[in-house]
Amino acid sequence: MIRVARDSGRVEIRVVNLREFTDDPHRSIDDYPYGGGPGMILKVEPVARALESLPPPLRDRREVVLLTPQGARLDQTMVRRLVDVGDVVLAFGRYKGLDERIRSLATREISIGDYILSGGEPAAVVLVDALARLVPGVLGDLDSALSDSFETGILDSGYYTRPEVYRGMRVPRTLLTGDHARILRHRREEALLRTLRRRPDLLSGASLTREEIVWLQAKGWTPPPGAKSPGGESEDKTAGRPRRVKVQARRDKDE
Ligand SMILES: C[S@@+](CC[C@H](N)C(=O)[O-])C[C@H]1O[C@@H](n2cnc3c(N)ncnc32)[C@H](O)[C@@H]1O
Repeated sequence: MIRVARDSGRVEIRVVNLREFTDDPHRSIDDYPYGGGPGMILKVEPVARALESLPPPLRDRREVVLLTPQGARLDQTMVRRLVDVGDVVLAFGRYKGLDERIRSLATREISIGDYILSGGEPAAVVLVDALARLVPGVLGDLDSALSDSFETGILDSGYYTRPEVYRGMRVPRTLLTGDHARILRHRREEALLRTLRRRPDLLSGASLTREEIVWLQAKGWTPPPGAKSPGGESEDKTAGRPRRVKVQARRDKDE
């Protein structure tokens, strides 16, 4: 995907060699930690100089992302925000980590999950892939990406292809009817149900219609305390489709 994105000319990826921004004969970019202890620490000067050497930000906006297990956990909302900015610099360390002062150079810190990699390269590949596929023109069918899990705030439905029956497991009949509206409804219900079963935490931030909230409650979902009552919302008839209600727990004033 990353190669496809680059070849399309819609995504430019530049790799900066920090050794070009050192001033010692060994071109060292890391050093021993003050206070002792195991591991090497990425130095602040090469990173600062590399950032200063970059061309001006695209459309005057740039995010400098520090990849660190101590950052905010990456999610699709954050990926969307970064795609909108369009100019993203990734910085990361290896071994024991980074000089703490590198943090002052970043606009945000991101972790790809609660586990430790030996270096930030795989994290960078994860983030670049997630960003590149959302750049318009990279995916053959961007609409397909828009129905993926998390894009709609919930998990995606399941999908099937031929054969119709495999070892007694049958494709849901609705998917074979050719009735587009019924299929859409089936997929939406399936997506809601699997979100309820696997990731009920997502439902509390999802955009749901009043009918969906009632339907989910009948399936055993309890909306978070303080969420708007579904009965309090009116149908938006002019839009021709049911109005979605953002299910959100009321936040205490002192939060
Ligand atoms: C071994 S880690 C350093 C961990 C650091 N001592 C700590 O405990 O926070 C080396 C580098 O890998 C990258 N890294 C490791 N795990 C990561 C994660 N979950 N998300 C993003 N980057 C990660 C970071 O760039 C980090 O500087």
